[in-house]
Amino acid sequence: MRATEGGAELRTGTGNGEHVGVHELVKRYGDVAAVDGVTFGVRAGEFLALLGPSGSGKTTILMNIAGFDFPDSGRIEIGGQDVTWTPSHKRNLGMVFQRYTLFPHMTVLDNIAFPLRMRKIGRAEREERARAALRTVRLDGYGERKPAQLSGGQQQRVAMARAVVYNPEVLLMDEPLSALDKNLREEMQIEIKHLQRELGVTVIFVTHDQTEALTMADRIAVLDLGKLQQLDTPKALYEQPTSAFVAGFIGETNFWPAVASGDAPAGAEVGVTLEGGERASVTAADALRAGQKVKVAIRPENIRLAGDGAGLQATVEEAIYAGSVTTLLLRSKGPTLRVRVGLDGSLGEPQPGTPFALGWQTRHARAYAA
Ligand SMILES: Nc1ncnc2c1ncn2[C@@H]1O[C@H](COP(=O)(O)OP(=O)(O)OP(=O)(O)O)[C@@H](O)[C@H]1O
Ligand SMILES: [Mg+2]
Repeated sequence: MRATEGGAELRTGTGNGEHVGVHELVKRYGDVAAVDGVTFGVRAGEFLALLGPSGSGKTTILMNIAGFDFPDSGRIEIGGQDVTWTPSHKRNLGMVFQRYTLFPHMTVLDNIAFPLRMRKIGRAEREERARAALRTVRLDGYGERKPAQLSGGQQQRVAMARAVVYNPEVLLMDEPLSALDKNLREEMQIEIKHLQRELGVTVIFVTHDQTEALTMADRIAVLDLGKLQQLDTPKALYEQPTSAFVAGFIGETNFWPAVASGDAPAGAEVGVTLEGGERASVTAADALRAGQKVKVAIRPENIRLAGDGAGLQATVEEAIYAGSVTTLLLRSKGPTLRVRVGLDGSLGEPQPGTPFALGWQTRHARAYAA
């Protein structure tokens, strides 16, 4: 445990601008490493999403930051202080979970005021602050109701009001919107962003919904099998995934098996022989050696089609119309590819059996070591 530090240093954290730091976190349950050496930092006022498939360790990381669970090894820092073993109620965190966990027998106002009562704040101030929090989530007038008399979205807003009523520095949310239907979820995503900006609070938000992470987060930490795969802005994750896992997990991707024709450092252009025998130019996402097996990742919207001329040969198998875009399934000499085409009419209305030549910009095709 670190010695007490000055206030200024507390606010700026460890000197590298981190508000919350997770260092080499390991948590095992029996043989399973739920979290397997995860390190990342969250900046003050940042909205960080923890994104990953089921069982990837998201909730476990959040529970360790919250102080509801404790690691086998590693360290949690908040504001530059080691809080790894600090009890939860001394960490000044707000928390919102998937199920609203409101007290059913209490009114909405009493639910929101509850954390203030736990902190021994007097009745008058409790009520005033609870009403202010209720206004923040746009539910004034609902204070006297019981949770059961509210919709799912309203209950989730009450849970948020309760989480922020004592002005926590950090707000932890574990899939808070997953119980809501699509429209309400999208509405609440915007409200949570507004609330965060208004309060200037640091948010760590767990989700397994990539669209939710891409639209809400400043940065996204992608997890798989208890390990951090990549931490980046939504744009960088989408355009420059550093692994085939992230390329496949974020957005849609075609994978075309291939063999590298030459040596290339990561980031360089390299020739490959694609499965099916044709040659193409791609970008090495990893350092590659001549003869190495790779997987070339190309997004459906980055494949260009031409009616004739040079390029990889492919034939339309199916055209899937979806309003603003059409997705073509194209049989190539390698895999069947998904290709997104707009409605500008330049390709006509592709029918099954229509042949095309296809190509891409080198930077859009990324080769990962297989
Ligand atoms: N209390 C526990 N006892 C035993 N195993 C656990 C416990 N909590 C989590 N695990 C295991 O640890 C791994 C990570 O679980 P965790 O709940 O962190 O995943 P998650 O990413 O939040 O998944 P989900 O998206 O399904 O909520 C899983 O394999 C899970 O079965
Ligand atoms: Mg979880």
